[in-house]
Amino acid sequence: MPGDSAVNFNLLHRTCKLVVLLCFLHISVTVFFYVRSLDLRFAFAQNQQSLHHNVTATSSQLTTSAFTSRTKLEEEQRVREQEQEQLRPGEPQKELDKCPETSPLLVGPLRIEFNIPVSLQQIKKDNPQVQPGGRFRPTDCKALQKVAIIIPFRKRDEHLKYWLYYLHPILQRQQLDYGVYVINQDGDEIFNRAKLLNVGYTEALKEYDYDCFVFSDVDLIPMDDRNTYRCFSQPRHLSVSMDKFGFRLPYNQYFGGVSSMSKEQYLKINGFPNNYWGWGGEDDDIYNRLASRGMSISRPSGEVGKCRMIRHDRDKQNEPNPQRFDRIAHTRDTMNKDGINSLSYTVVSVDKLDLFTEITVDVGKP
Ligand code: BGC
Repeated sequence: MPGDSAVNFNLLHRTCKLVVLLCFLHISVTVFFYVRSLDLRFAFAQNQQSLHHNVTATSSQLTTSAFTSRTKLEEEQRVREQEQEQLRPGEPQKELDKCPETSPLLVGPLRIEFNIPVSLQQIKKDNPQVQPGGRFRPTDCKALQKVAIIIPFRKRDEHLKYWLYYLHPILQRQQLDYGVYVINQDGDEIFNRAKLLNVGYTEALKEYDYDCFVFSDVDLIPMDDRNTYRCFSQPRHLSVSMDKFGFRLPYNQYFGGVSSMSKEQYLKINGFPNNYWGWGGEDDDIYNRLASRGMSISRPSGEVGKCRMIRHDRDKQNEPNPQRFDRIAHTRDTMNKDGINSLSYTVVSVDKLDLFTEITVDVGKP
């Protein structure tokens, strides 16, 4: 019937319209997702590039992005290649251009925390370019200074782990030719920080022709990698704004915590005193020595010189030294006969560990 066919035609017409509409919708959705996937791929490629740049710049910082595995493989390959042609500490380095005065790898302020778990294995993995004994030098430029880092030590393994965890990446970014020497006082006699520093100076020089010495407490970590652990035209005080002192100097002559001296500066003051047993005074004596030889103290700004100290109870056998005030008052009279020229000690052991050289010494007793 004509009425029926009109109804059928209408129905067919509507169905066709619906199908066309659905097709259009389908195509639109497909095109939308296709374009989006292109965007994502582009973003991924960009991310890969900047991540790679980050890894090279900060060499051993941990990155937990989903894209790291490829970047990590590339980094490992790069390290392997470098190792093949690269240094064995003590061997001559092939001719390279000098590293720049300011390392381009520095990142500035750092987050320093002491509630994260750290293990020596992980630190070793994170720092594949550090050689046995805690030695490193840049492979793409000639470091400006050869720096021995001396840490006086006894029974502070937990603190040492944090020190290694934070400092190895920083020192590498600072493009230093460096070695880490932990000078461990043997036995349970009263602690002698300054004498251990003298031992570190002497022992490090037996191994390599260092021209700069950084003397660092084991519990002090810089909060900014622009605070370069190297030497300057005047003796340098590096730990200038410690959290413990409200991020300021406790007094102007303060020279404790972390300091650096060139070989020449150190010898000019006959090294450090050997007879400060127990806590305190030895850093003031060192300051007096420097002042009496006409040297001044160089320091980074309060911002760059920020650092954190790991909180701890006072160590046993390191009680405040009651003689310190009297000794400090006589530095000028004593410094010529008490110092590197009168140092005596016995080496108990030398261990080249993965991340540092440990030298255990008997420094005697008062
Ligand atoms: C001590 C120093 C110590 C300083 C800060 C002084 O009284 O003699 O050895 O570094 O206090 O604690």
